[in-house]
Amino acid sequence: MIGKTALVAGATGLVGKKLLRQLLESTEYTQVIALVRQPVQQLQHMKLQQVVVDYNKLQDYRADMKADDVFCCLGTTIKQAGTQKQMIEIDVIYPFAVAQIAYEQGAKQFIVISSMGADPKSSIFYTRIKGELEQRLQQIGYTSLSLIRPSLLLGKRKDSRAGEQFGTVISQALSFLMVGPLRKYRGIEASAVALAMYRIAQTAKPGSHVYLSDRLQRIADESQPSTASTKKRS
Ligand SMILES: NC(=O)c1ccc[n+]([C@@H]2O[C@H](COP(=O)([O-])OP(=O)(O)OC[C@H]3O[C@@H](n4cnc5c(N)ncnc54)[C@H](OP(=O)(O)O)[C@@H]3O)[C@@H](O)[C@H]2O)c1
Repeated sequence: MIGKTALVAGATGLVGKKLLRQLLESTEYTQVIALVRQPVQQLQHMKLQQVVVDYNKLQDYRADMKADDVFCCLGTTIKQAGTQKQMIEIDVIYPFAVAQIAYEQGAKQFIVISSMGADPKSSIFYTRIKGELEQRLQQIGYTSLSLIRPSLLLGKRKDSRAGEQFGTVISQALSFLMVGPLRKYRGIEASAVALAMYRIAQTAKPGSHVYLSDRLQRIADESQPSTASTKKRS
């Protein structure tokens, strides 16, 4: 059986790693291409092709970027990036370049992690650049564009992020208050985001769609996604 090809950028991150595992274990995809900065020994699988890229010269790797569905989990923090300019490179310029080149190479669907509150007019730098990315992606012409806007991501990281650890404690302590319309503010496990991204890709809903944490959690919680339940969501 010939299945689909997935292309993943950011497959070494908190969400990206979980998503990659999901894609490799799925029967939908027979090939998974991961764009990485350095070869990752732990990432070995029959279906997996690691493509070591220099994101500043992404055009050089266009021949390796042929896929049906493209997943982007790239991102950084201002502390890691060092400057706002460098953060824009990683959070906006690189994801946009991946989207543009993969589209030119025939991809029909793009699923990207943005952020809750993404808004190009936001006065907050982080949510503003995420909004700018979304705006730019909408102009490319993908048949299906999914804008994943999680709240605080929960999960174990290699690096310690004091702000996020504090946010996790607060979020968990107050989660009993976040009910009804406030559910979207609850922190969400990276694994739930990854599973939701995978499932959203299988619906390939035409147009541009935004997914907040409460919806991502519901999609991840569905025990057996079926065509019927997928249709109900639209
Ligand atoms: N943390 C949160 O609470 C939160 C909330 C809402 C939205 N988000 C967004 O969710 C997305 C995924 O977050 P995450 O926590 O899973 O990310 P993460 O663990 O920090 O992973 C980031 C990914 O981006 C890659 N990357 C970082 N700097 C790069 C560079 N200079 N060049 C090329 N690749 C680079 C990393 O590759 P290497 O392994 O090679 O470094 C890694 O694959 C991000 O867009 C983030 O902004 C996060």
